[in-house]
Amino acid sequence: MGISRKGRNLVGKFYKIPDAVGDWSRETLAREVVGGRNLEVIDFSKLDGKERAKTLAQIAHCCEEWGFFQLVNHGIPEELLEKVKKVASECYKLEREENFKNSMPVKLLNELVEKKSEDKLENLDWEDVFLLSDENENEWPTKIPGFNETMKEYRDELKKLAIKVMEVMDENLGLPKGYIKKAFNGAEEEDNAVFGTKVSHYPPCPHPEKLTGLRAHTDAGGVILLFQDDEVKGLQILKDGEWIDVQPMKNSIVINTGDQIEVLSNGRYKSVWHRVFASTDGNRRSIASFYNPSLKATIEPAQELAEKTDKLAVDPIYPKFVFGDYMSVYTVQKFLPKEPRFKAVNAK
Ligand code: OGA
Ligand code: NI
Repeated sequence: MGISRKGRNLVGKFYKIPDAVGDWSRETLAREVVGGRNLEVIDFSKLDGKERAKTLAQIAHCCEEWGFFQLVNHGIPEELLEKVKKVASECYKLEREENFKNSMPVKLLNELVEKKSEDKLENLDWEDVFLLSDENENEWPTKIPGFNETMKEYRDELKKLAIKVMEVMDENLGLPKGYIKKAFNGAEEEDNAVFGTKVSHYPPCPHPEKLTGLRAHTDAGGVILLFQDDEVKGLQILKDGEWIDVQPMKNSIVINTGDQIEVLSNGRYKSVWHRVFASTDGNRRSIASFYNPSLKATIEPAQELAEKTDKLAVDPIYPKFVFGDYMSVYTVQKFLPKEPRFKAVNAK
């Protein structure tokens, strides 16, 4: 179903947001969800055949216009994906659910409801989350048979996929193969980039009108690969001032680009606002893996893409900075617009 003509006119008349006001106003003024527009689905296997050029162009279009796309035939074995879903859900049930029931969001929401307050909860997320990385393996869940082996195998596969996706971006941006990966790994040849996996659940919420599952934000890092729930939806992205649902699609991987890809591409690929809504039923599982720069890596627009004017500008939009400094700013400003973050690291 498309947006009706009438709906479009309304968007134009009352909600069209001038470009100059920036992302934050766009986010706050955005209409509530307009259905009917879906992310483009890319058949990644076609990169290896005679449709390579067409597939590259499709991906370029998604990166330039959407900041998000959905991959199928991405090469991750179905069997592995099924195991990942199983161990992640078992882990939630066995090791997380009880804690979530006693968590701050649940307590604060109960309080609001008991007081019959009209207020909303603005500064928290209705999300259970834990992080897997190479550095914290000794803290990975321990009670679920097969959890560690499965997630290790999954992370290996996803890291390879992230590298392939970055190479496609290199090619589409006219950069040497491996450019983005190298930039994220810092000057040295070593494997310094950070590859993390965030395992999230968005449990059913009795009053979803009072809070969000995950507040609107753009992602700080590089390339994000999201394995979202087969059935329960919740993720929305901001496109042309409207929140659009990212429809669940069994065993597909949703790709999006973070703030560092925006900087590196000198704004050709924008990192896009997204959020997760809470809902009364369904416990949405979502596993986000991210290929981020090393905290020591210096990030700046690729020379090939930085225009001369940028170099001469007193206050370029995309500065040169150390990613660790960016993360210090992001940690406190995650749910705010990205532009002040770029300014803050520029001033360092
Ligand atoms: C994130 C994110 C979306 C999701 O973790 O940054 O946007 O569906 N997650 O969990
Ligand atoms: Ni995100």
